[in-house]
Amino acid sequence: MQKKIRKAVFPVAGMGTRFLPATKANPKEMLPIVDKPLIQYAAEEAVAAGIDVLIFVTGRNKRAIPDHFDKAYELESELQERGKLKMLDIVRDILPPHVSCVYIRQAEALGLGHAVLCARPVVGYEPFAVILADDLVDGGSAGGALTQMVEVYEKHHASVLGVEDVPPNETHKYGIVTPETLEDDLWRVQAIVEKPAPEDAPSNMAVVGRYVLSPRIFELLENTRPGAGGEIQLTDAIAALLEKESVLAYRFQGKRYDCGSKLGYLEATVEYALKHPELSEDFRQYLQTLAHTLD
Ligand code: G1P
Repeated sequence: MQKKIRKAVFPVAGMGTRFLPATKANPKEMLPIVDKPLIQYAAEEAVAAGIDVLIFVTGRNKRAIPDHFDKAYELESELQERGKLKMLDIVRDILPPHVSCVYIRQAEALGLGHAVLCARPVVGYEPFAVILADDLVDGGSAGGALTQMVEVYEKHHASVLGVEDVPPNETHKYGIVTPETLEDDLWRVQAIVEKPAPEDAPSNMAVVGRYVLSPRIFELLENTRPGAGGEIQLTDAIAALLEKESVLAYRFQGKRYDCGSKLGYLEATVEYALKHPELSEDFRQYLQTLAHTLD
């Protein structure tokens, strides 16, 4: 596995039930953090990591995602006519011109593993990334999580899972690895299990929505039966991959927000607003005033 990582898969066919009714007609990946939808943060992270083909595995009610990355003729000419050139740049610069987007429809929501398998005809036989947009990562000065993971991949030529330590009572929300230490922040994965109960979890090291995967995963996904929650789980195919190739777990630098939960989404909104160039001062003052009214 020595090829460059050029393609990223974004599974975006989920129903987003935790955010209903906001996600009744709109994909959860279009929920904004301040003024940018989650899916755009994810796409920007991929592009920053050197990826130039973005593969979206979509489902029902997801038309807003291709629309978001498409050219918006009417909006652009309207902004041009009104001389709103700063806004025009924002709308035009959603993605750099060398990046292409491919959309694949996952007809049935059979699980994350199945969604990744749907991307096989576009990925072909090369290593690729998977990004779950509802795990938002602010890599800060260390760069994006995926940039850091691609560096690990380029050094070790093995699949890399992005991990972090979670509270022991939250293992049932994640894929959990059994780690064997290699270097600071880098482990060889000995085993992986999807959403174990805290008493069954082999550790509290959780996979958090970032993967660099060997293309061999596809043949394993083809043979993966429904697992936790009755879904075809990516974690189960990774467990099978471990039998054939080494898989690494890397604790990237930066802060991850679980924007699939309301609390994580609100935390991201507050913290990104505090860093937003137009908002930070006023928002900080507002929060300080608000804090005095809370007990
Ligand atoms: C998925 C994966 C899980 C992973 C998690 C990260 O679960 O199945 O292994 O730890 O994403 O967010 P989901 O959150 O879709 O239930």
